[in-house]
Amino acid sequence: MKKIQKIIRKKNKSKIVCLTAYSKNFAEEIDKYADITLVGDSLGSVLYNYSTTRKVTLTEMINHSKSVKSGIKKSLMVVDMPYKSYDTSNLALKNAKKIIKETKCDAVKLEGGKKILKQVKLLIKNKIPVMGHLGLLPQSVKGKFKSKGKTIREVNKLINDALLLQQSGVFSIVLECVKTSVAKRITQKLNIPTIGIGSSVYCDGQVLVTDDLLGLNQTKIKFVKKFINIKKYINFGVRKFTSEVRSRKYPTKKYSY
Ligand code: KIV
Repeated sequence: MKKIQKIIRKKNKSKIVCLTAYSKNFAEEIDKYADITLVGDSLGSVLYNYSTTRKVTLTEMINHSKSVKSGIKKSLMVVDMPYKSYDTSNLALKNAKKIIKETKCDAVKLEGGKKILKQVKLLIKNKIPVMGHLGLLPQSVKGKFKSKGKTIREVNKLINDALLLQQSGVFSIVLECVKTSVAKRITQKLNIPTIGIGSSVYCDGQVLVTDDLLGLNQTKIKFVKKFINIKKYINFGVRKFTSEVRSRKYPTKKYSY
């Protein structure tokens, strides 16, 4: 709970940094800098080439989260509850307990607002910290990914959902692809932090899929800034190894028993 309070206290003071991790090696580096390490169900598209996050299973989330946990020393670890794992409140509680018990994570994240309030309330009543997720909800998208908050109806729904989630006790809310003006209004209205992804600088923090910012994915999403092209380095290492094996330069005595 101390870690959660620390995140909440950052609102209006310092920006919150959140990044995704699906394995130990990535988690170790992210943990050195980020406030929150998120095991996102985006692992479905990033690692498994699934067409939708709906295909991600609870077992996949738990296995990757165990690996991530082994690389974490200080950041708050949040795990996405996969599609269909929180359809009813009892199912949500059973699965959230399983996630917490097996992965030792600090909190879970659920997508949605009013529709999932019963689930959120029951988890919080059972002392399971919850992160909300509003705006573009990948688990609900059937067609194209579109930004949210373009019509008055959408704006009112977003604000209402954010307030309802806050009243239910979530400790922060991810705002995905929400129009700048709307993300700003929501962030100002809430006492808990908003974590934006494609939702402007006005959010209290930012999250990105780590593979995207490292240039590992070929995605051309508007909000993704490639901070480095890691593929180039992977290519370099693999090419060097290949060349040294073929020219018998590797392994020398130093690398042999
Ligand atoms: O699944 C995920 O990685 C996420 C973040 C992008 C917010 O939900």
